[in-house]
Amino acid sequence: MKTKIEVLGISKKFGDHQVLRDVSLKVKEGENLVIIGSSGGGKTVLLKHIIGLLKPDSGKILIDGEEVTDKDGFGLKPLRKKFGMVFQSSALFNSLTVAENIGLGPREARIYTEKEIKEIVEEKLQLVGLEGIGDLMPEELSGGMKKRVALARSLAMNPEIILYDEPTSELDPPTAHTINQLILNLKEKLKVTSVTVTHDINCAYFIGDRIAMLHEGKIIKVATPEEIRASCDPIVGQFLTRDEWKKGCPGSPGLTERNDA
Ligand SMILES: Nc1ncnc2c1ncn2[C@@H]1O[C@H](COP(=O)(O)OP(=O)(O)OP(=O)(O)O)[C@@H](O)[C@H]1O
Ligand SMILES: [Mg+2]
Repeated sequence: MKTKIEVLGISKKFGDHQVLRDVSLKVKEGENLVIIGSSGGGKTVLLKHIIGLLKPDSGKILIDGEEVTDKDGFGLKPLRKKFGMVFQSSALFNSLTVAENIGLGPREARIYTEKEIKEIVEEKLQLVGLEGIGDLMPEELSGGMKKRVALARSLAMNPEIILYDEPTSELDPPTAHTINQLILNLKEKLKVTSVTVTHDINCAYFIGDRIAMLHEGKIIKVATPEEIRASCDPIVGQFLTRDEWKKGCPGSPGLTERNDA
């Protein structure tokens, strides 16, 4: 299968804080690669490199074989068009209605009439199961609805790639499950390639075709959910709940002090 995103030996330092260390990853067309790692580990920084919002100190990133990392502003525009991004904080504009938030991209593109923009907004709201709420303000929405509106906004320009930054953080388990289900449905329906960042292993198991583990700025493992479940590598074990780890490695881990209750 075709490689859609190629991350080649990316390193990034802020001051003397080395955040990413020689990170390499390949994302195949149509797959959902999940990046899992602890808080502050560089997951968001990695996503921002993929979409060209940050530049690496060394290494490069290719999208469909074309380099992102050597381009700025104008040069990035055609590449950016391929992306939809759902930010960690949802990042909706509070002074704009839901419809205006979703319509931002299409309106800026200056190729659609107001009627067409209205149709795009309604179609995307329908995709996330929120038809008819376009006139609401973000403050009137629950956390789960905000995530879904952010998702609808990321879909507005029909992206080939969606980057999800912690799509289920701060949501209660049933709402988180709804969002995970939605991510899976969108993948099936729209055939998009996606990269999802999370610290929730259950989310990773549920939506990931493959899971990449980011530990101290390095990718320590890339494997399918089944392979991760079966792994007895103690570093991999740190990402799993105690029950999951025991299942894979009966009697062996010796990691009972891990704080994962
Ligand atoms: N623009 C920046 N300038 C300086 N330091 C930054 C910048 N962006 C991120 N960092 C630092 O890089 C490190 C990794 O941040 P990042 O946001 O990628 O973590 P994360 O894995 O997404 O964490 P979380 O799960 O909490 O969202 C942090 O120590 C953060 O303070
Ligand atoms: Mg983050």
